[in-house]
Amino acid sequence: MAGTTSAAIAPKRAEWRGQVGFIISAIGSAVGLGNIWRFPGVAYENGGGAFLIPYIVALLTAGIPILFLDYAIGHRFRGSPPLALRRLAGKLGEGIGWFQVMICVFIALYYTVVLAWASSYFVFSFDLRWGNDSAGYFQGDYLQVAAEPFTFNFVPGVLLPLIIMWVIAIIVMGAGVVKGVQRVNMIAIPLLVVGFLILVVRALFLPGAAEGLNALFTPDFGALADPSVWVAAYSQIFFSLSIAFGIMLTYSSYRRRKSNLTAPGLVVAFANSSFEILAGIGVFATLGFFAFKEGVAVADLEGLTGVGLAFMTFPAIAAEMPGGQLFGALFFGSLTLAGLTSMISILEVILSSFMDKFGLTRKQSAFGIGGLLAIVSIMLFGTTSGLTALNTIDNWANNIGIVASAVAVTITVLWVRRAGRELSGHLSALSTFKIGRTWRFLVSVLAPVVLGYMLVMTVIGLIAKPYGGYDPTYLLIVGWGTIFIMVVAGWALTAAPWRRSPDNFAVWPPIPPATVADAPTNEGGAR
Ligand code: ALA
Repeated sequence: MAGTTSAAIAPKRAEWRGQVGFIISAIGSAVGLGNIWRFPGVAYENGGGAFLIPYIVALLTAGIPILFLDYAIGHRFRGSPPLALRRLAGKLGEGIGWFQVMICVFIALYYTVVLAWASSYFVFSFDLRWGNDSAGYFQGDYLQVAAEPFTFNFVPGVLLPLIIMWVIAIIVMGAGVVKGVQRVNMIAIPLLVVGFLILVVRALFLPGAAEGLNALFTPDFGALADPSVWVAAYSQIFFSLSIAFGIMLTYSSYRRRKSNLTAPGLVVAFANSSFEILAGIGVFATLGFFAFKEGVAVADLEGLTGVGLAFMTFPAIAAEMPGGQLFGALFFGSLTLAGLTSMISILEVILSSFMDKFGLTRKQSAFGIGGLLAIVSIMLFGTTSGLTALNTIDNWANNIGIVASAVAVTITVLWVRRAGRELSGHLSALSTFKIGRTWRFLVSVLAPVVLGYMLVMTVIGLIAKPYGGYDPTYLLIVGWGTIFIMVVAGWALTAAPWRRSPDNFAVWPPIPPATVADAPTNEGGAR
């Protein structure tokens, strides 16, 4: 049982240095590629200003409640996802924990690649190396994208920055939670905020900026009747807040016993959304300038999200702008910093899980597991077929993997294990912002229903129409194959023996009921 542990035989768990260190690191995880290149395009395509309604509803009904759930599980059971969920919900819980780790594995494989591209483009910005044909330069000269999806020829221009990114990530991870992860965040996040603010202010003074903002924020309320708009809002919140795939759970496992859990959670959630909206303003002001220069409407521009936005549209804009070198460097520098701080949080989930279950030291885990991931990432994405694989795995990992994980966690923890009151009590006992019945309703009823519906809709959509117009056999192997590997590897890792029994790790003693502000009385339903 959780309370009857013999702390003496368990290794000491790392702890953040101070609450601010934790908050900055959690913001560093949340603010990433999802904010800068995904949010603006998703908002634009899903109702513009009206998208803010489903976005805020998703944030309040699922984003923040599941963020709190992650914090509660990680802090109360003090472990990586497989360890904490094993202690909370037995083998089923551990299986879900490993599934979350596998989501992180797949995301880590391609996330580093985008970081590598962004760092290359940071350097290219200084001489605007893409010239007048940014799309041709990116796909042809830089990535050397092959016509056939399965061609594994190495691309030297990508290989070098990719190796550098992995080496940086492994060194940071090997240095530990405080000296590595926290230190990098404490340096990178202030730099990111200053750099990105300069970029946004510059963008707002460009001719055409107002047109860009009108394009983003003009509400199309009709879009709210379309279920796919709501699905897009919930997906965006999950990826962007780093919830339901182990990150926030792992980060809160490094907090001290007497930690305020909910108030910092609110700070992280609102900081993340503020950065997202800031990114929307910066990106669309810039697109407004581009449309003005080209003499077209913003709606007629192409490449408004994801890879296209960052590596084709933005470079084209920088080439047309006075001082475009600096603008490009600020944009790609921001992308690199935001991505790096998210990347290390994704890796922390993986390394911490292997340390907990197999008794690896941090150095063994960083160099061994990190090194292995680096090799796979380089083999898969340092090649001419990298872009297609990246798009496909990204779609399946996010829209199927993370959503399935959220459904599985909420059902297992709230309905099978019925731990709602224990967790809400734990959250409230230690925090200034108290939660109770409403939170339990949101995570036990609303979240599984809405997310379960989303999952079914997404699966039907992917079966009905091949994603991205790619070959269905390719999608079966790479897309559905990704989910298959996540499940099988998750099962195999759950079946492997523990180096040290999961009961023999130190957890915080349960908070005495008398101190629980929201003490359960006679409430019914799932706990
Ligand atoms: N939360 C991270 C992002 O938005 C993973 O990119």
